[in-house]
Amino acid sequence: MKDKKGASRKSRESKNALSRRDFLRAGATVSGGLLAGNSRAIAAPTVPETPVLGPGEAPVTLRINGSENNIHLEPRVTLLDALRNHLDITGAKRVCDRGTCGACTVMIDGNPVYSCSVLAIEAQGHEITTIESLSDGNHFDPVISAFVNNDAQQCGFCTPGFVMACRAFLNKHPHPTLDQVKKGLSGNLCRCGTYHGVEHAVLEAAGMGHAGVMAPPGAQDRKS
Ligand code: FES
Ligand code: FES
Repeated sequence: MKDKKGASRKSRESKNALSRRDFLRAGATVSGGLLAGNSRAIAAPTVPETPVLGPGEAPVTLRINGSENNIHLEPRVTLLDALRNHLDITGAKRVCDRGTCGACTVMIDGNPVYSCSVLAIEAQGHEITTIESLSDGNHFDPVISAFVNNDAQQCGFCTPGFVMACRAFLNKHPHPTLDQVKKGLSGNLCRCGTYHGVEHAVLEAAGMGHAGVMAPPGAQDRKS
């Protein structure tokens, strides 16, 4: 019985090993000598050729806040570093740099993402939106105004990421409940503990409308 099982396991392993090899043959560029004599390898599906980039800089085009940006980057550069260090778009912050805190949140095709955990080259061909798009200097997205109204920041370091997460959340859930807000923003951390203010800011911004812009409270006073 034991031998039978062992033999069947061996047979399975042998089949699996063959499948893995076939997969590698299909996906990698290897010498013809290695492929010779195996008809299964010849029958493997054709995989489109993937251009090999790096390790040096390669041309990269990023569409950010509606504008095309042509730069040269090593393929290992994250979207966050491309924004901050190569394009001087510094709203997204680097804190944990490992996809935990959300301070680097931007939107890609309308979805909130940790820009520290996305390679810039992967973001090509997608619409990238940063917090800079939510204000023209005089007018502000309702989420920003609601943050001011609800004291949703202390040191403010987490704030750009939170604002982007809130805007992305409200775009998909224009009339959320408090529970939905808490769940929707659970990917962002605030060391100062301003969660209560952030939650109320989202609820207030939901009442203000969807994606319009407005002057924050006191903006006129501060200008004069
Ligand atoms: S800096 Fe990207 S998640 Fe913390
Ligand atoms: S306001 Fe300080 S980390 Fe959030």
